Amino acid sequence: MNGIKIRGTGRGVPGKIVTNQDLENVVDTGDEWIASRTGIRARHYCGEGETFSSITAKAARRALEDAGVSPSEIGACIVATLSGDSLVPSAACVLQQALGLPEDIPCFDLNAACTGFLFALHTMECLLNASPRRFGLVVGAENLSRLLNWEDRGTCILFGDGAGAAVVECREGWPSISAVMGCHGNSELLHVPGAETGVHSYISMEGTKVFKFAVEAVPWCVDQVLKKTGRTVEDIDFFVFHQANARIIDLAVRKYRIPPEKYYKNIAEYGNTSAASIPLVLSELRQQGKIGPGSRLLAVGFGGGLTWGGCLIEFA
Ligand code: COA
Repeated sequence: MNGIKIRGTGRGVPGKIVTNQDLENVVDTGDEWIASRTGIRARHYCGEGETFSSITAKAARRALEDAGVSPSEIGACIVATLSGDSLVPSAACVLQQALGLPEDIPCFDLNAACTGFLFALHTMECLLNASPRRFGLVVGAENLSRLLNWEDRGTCILFGDGAGAAVVECREGWPSISAVMGCHGNSELLHVPGAETGVHSYISMEGTKVFKFAVEAVPWCVDQVLKKTGRTVEDIDFFVFHQANARIIDLAVRKYRIPPEKYYKNIAEYGNTSAASIPLVLSELRQQGKIGPGSRLLAVGFGGGLTWGGCLIEFA
């Protein structure tokens, strides 16, 4: 199988910023508690005139621009999300219309919660191997502020909105991203009810248990990707972790002795943006010049489902 590499990245960040202090007026909480337990200081919410679709389109347009690829060259479009504007049409079909993507390509949504972007990259690699076109558009986007229960201080402080996108290219001879993935069906630890259940679609979570799951899932993914690719920690230019809790990242960093210049945290500004979290990191790293052509990244995600996954991402 031919591998994919990232050509360009982009992000759509909603303008409304909600700080921990702002949330002190909504639930019984405090900046100190939130920052020390999670690393979160603020999060962005879609405000006036902003929707899931508008931030998604912004991220995708920037990624295409960054890659120097036109919409007509895209061979498949996947949006990883659990919070699109509509169930039908899918977020990917809405995006297809907004960007004018070709009509003879698959455009669809993928829900693997916070691991969605990595599941989508793997799926895209498979799709592009069977496509006459070389490029694919992979987006991770969420509007989670609509799914928050303002009576549950254990969850409403954690999540934010955002969109990140990557244009990938598939070429003969390029190595596969060597994705490793897993799922464990469980509705108790992390749950968002669907429309048909008649209950409000709020995120509910058993935080401490999810934390324990994450602390095991992250090293499993790192180890499996290294094993599958025959690489060592030293071979990796940058580690990209799903931004759910700064303490989860710190534990991984300590375990693998990753130096500060080789990992990144933006959770203080965004909170947990689920499927958008990893592409938001990629886009910021690229803009800051910390990664670019030739960079080799090890990305790890975990989340509801339960789901987890990792892969080796190279920049073209
Ligand atoms: N402000 C103040 N106090 C809060 C609070 C808040 N926002 N949320 C919970 N508390 C309180 C609890 O009520 C509890 O009080 P009690 O001891 O009097 O009952 C206490 O703080 C400890 O709560 P607990 O839930 O055990 O805290 P924790 O240390 O596990 O931290 C999380 C909670 C959610 C930050 C943490 O479990 C976590 O990050 N889990 C992983 C989440 C995750 O990664 N989810 C997404 C997967 S993609």
